[in-house]
Amino acid sequence: MDISKTVTCKAPINIAVIKYWGKRDEKLILPVNSSLSATLHIDQLCTTTSIAGSKHFPEDRLWLNGKEESLENPRVKTCLQEIRKRARKRKISDDESNPEDWKLHICSENNFPTAAGLASSAAGYACLVATLAQVYGVQGNVSDIARQGSGSACRSMYGGFVEWLDGESSCGSDSIAQQVVDENYWSEMRILILVVSDQKKHTSSTAGMQTTVKTSELLQHRVTLIPGYMETMRKAIKDRDYRTFAELTMKDSNQMHAVCLDTYPPISYMNDTSRSIVQMVHDYNSFHGETKACYTFDAGPNAVLYVLEENVSEVLSLIHHSFPPSQDNKEYIRGLDSRIHDIPQGL
Ligand code: DP6
Repeated sequence: MDISKTVTCKAPINIAVIKYWGKRDEKLILPVNSSLSATLHIDQLCTTTSIAGSKHFPEDRLWLNGKEESLENPRVKTCLQEIRKRARKRKISDDESNPEDWKLHICSENNFPTAAGLASSAAGYACLVATLAQVYGVQGNVSDIARQGSGSACRSMYGGFVEWLDGESSCGSDSIAQQVVDENYWSEMRILILVVSDQKKHTSSTAGMQTTVKTSELLQHRVTLIPGYMETMRKAIKDRDYRTFAELTMKDSNQMHAVCLDTYPPISYMNDTSRSIVQMVHDYNSFHGETKACYTFDAGPNAVLYVLEENVSEVLSLIHHSFPPSQDNKEYIRGLDSRIHDIPQGL
């Protein structure tokens, strides 16, 4: 069978320091607030997607982690439709068959537990859209398409520190991700992922946010604070000002989880181990009389610490001391160490 084109890409996860929590448009995935994250360089946590396009394939097909899935998933469908729309706009050279006639075989693999609060949908949709863009030769910012797969996925389309602008338009054309600084700018920054649990989370981010938007008054207050947070965070990153960066990262995470508790019925993503990590970080910082570590939590109990390189070994020793590994110790934390990554890679 003549396959017209095959492309494989790998995309990393990202971890927000100013969190996205709440949509103003469910279908277009437009957020109620801007957010900012770092893209992680970590081989243990990424998605690899291969797409073959051929005019001889009778239909589009999709395999996730080796299992064939229906293409009726509206988010996957939207990403395909949108990229094809954009492909139609680009000029096609004479010697190329018209990619609009192609059907696609899409194979995507996560090398980490899906939906465990480890940003799997971010890497998944970023990888899908980056690979589709290469198959169809679509250039430019396609983060607005990745956003329609999963909001946070748009930030994984770039490396380094990345912001996702809430935008003003109702069609979402200005709700895009853009790089704040590249992966080499703050090269001393390291990210430690503390895997408290890799079980599937009880309330997905999508469902949790919907209830929050409907019921939380605290969210209305948070939305008014975010423009100031974004400005402070951008400046802290540009000035490599760890203290400001770290304090705002912790406050923003605590606020997002406070908003989750203010949701009715309340949503509680952190567990006792998560709260012990929070305490451990604050004890460590006050022991030194200086902010040397900070934490952030997504929609799950796993902690992510942003730490400068010079403090990584001390913080890792502290974690191993506080949560020692043993066979039946449920508190044992698997630590993963990461640097900041560049953009999704074609392989
Ligand atoms: C807590 O991007 O997974 O990780 O847009 O509904 O797919 P959907 O949600 P998703 O939400 C991520 C929420 C978060 C915070 C963040 O990454 O900014």
